Amino acid sequence: MRETTRNQPVGIVGRSVKTRQVLHNVEKVAVGRWPVLILGETGTGKDLVARSIHEAAGQGPFVTIDCSSLVGPLMESELFGHARGAFTGAVGTKLGLIEMANGGTAFFDEIGELPLDLQAKLLRVLQEKEFRPVGSLQQKRSDFRVVAATNRDLAKEVDRGTFRRDLYYRLNVVPLRLAPLRERMEDLDPLIEHFLRLYGNGHLLTPETQEALRAYEWPGNVRELENCIQQMVAINTGPMLHVHDLPSPVQNSVHARRAHCMAAAVGSTAIMKPPARAELPERPAATEVPILPLIEMERRAILQALEYTNGDRGVAAHLLGIGRTTLYRKLKEYQLAV
Ligand SMILES: Nc1ncnc2c1ncn2[C@@H]1O[C@H](COP(=O)(O)OP(=O)(O)O)[C@@H](O)[C@H]1O
Ligand SMILES: [Mg+2]
Repeated sequence: MRETTRNQPVGIVGRSVKTRQVLHNVEKVAVGRWPVLILGETGTGKDLVARSIHEAAGQGPFVTIDCSSLVGPLMESELFGHARGAFTGAVGTKLGLIEMANGGTAFFDEIGELPLDLQAKLLRVLQEKEFRPVGSLQQKRSDFRVVAATNRDLAKEVDRGTFRRDLYYRLNVVPLRLAPLRERMEDLDPLIEHFLRLYGNGHLLTPETQEALRAYEWPGNVRELENCIQQMVAINTGPMLHVHDLPSPVQNSVHARRAHCMAAAVGSTAIMKPPARAELPERPAATEVPILPLIEMERRAILQALEYTNGDRGVAAHLLGIGRTTLYRKLKEYQLAV
């Protein structure tokens, strides 16, 4: 719900142009006190960027206000605090998050989730820097830097009437957009290295695992990558992390790709039939008949045989014209834990 931290080092890892631009912008906006609106899919690093801005500014407390949890009758007192006896159960006075942020940064996380009535109240605080705790007659002041984040399209919410236009303009002074991981894959290797250093115990990825990570779409972005590394490290004492150690969504996409490749390879044999003279293209399209390294052909043949025999290694070995032990050895070699 809330965190107050001071000067805890945070590092934004990445070498893509997009990430370097973000780092540059963090430095730039930290100097002023303008409101910043961080936009991006879940897991792209919005919290991290908010903290980085605060740290670069180096002033006061950092208070996270998780707007998605501000529901129910107590939400107003969470934000603004309350006076003693303001309502049943309010035995003492309570300091609200807004007051705690005084002199520092208030980070409104998931701002798109803030209910409309609280949006109106927040707007007032941002305009007047004044608020009134629940059940109190006294106005209080709190002056803080505003950083907000959302994975929603706020402009659309404004059009729909679920987000106040005036509050949107107040918050959207400096927009910072964080790209999904799949649009900045140059960040993948440094991020993997970072998480392996953080969670691993000398763990390393096999080339196949690396390839699988590179080919994956990462719908959950950096958070999903972080979880992926954590999971692999947790189940494998290492040092090598294999494809079969990958979490199932990543593994499934590996299998789907293999099946696709095999279908393409099978399909391409049709192209290899000698075409009638008149049909000959002027220049054969290089991508239509891929020349594969022998080792890759072998790997695919094994996969195909196993698929054909429904995983029966004895029959598969027979079809491939090799002995059972040879097949076992090759399965190990290619990390095909089928
Ligand atoms: N560029 C990055 N470098 C290092 N860690 C990152 C980076 N981006 C995200 N992370 C990590 O990924 C996780 C998810 O990031 P977070 O900021 O919580 O995303 P969001 O708020 O956008 O959902 C966090 O543990 C965060 O530290
Ligand atoms: Mg977040």
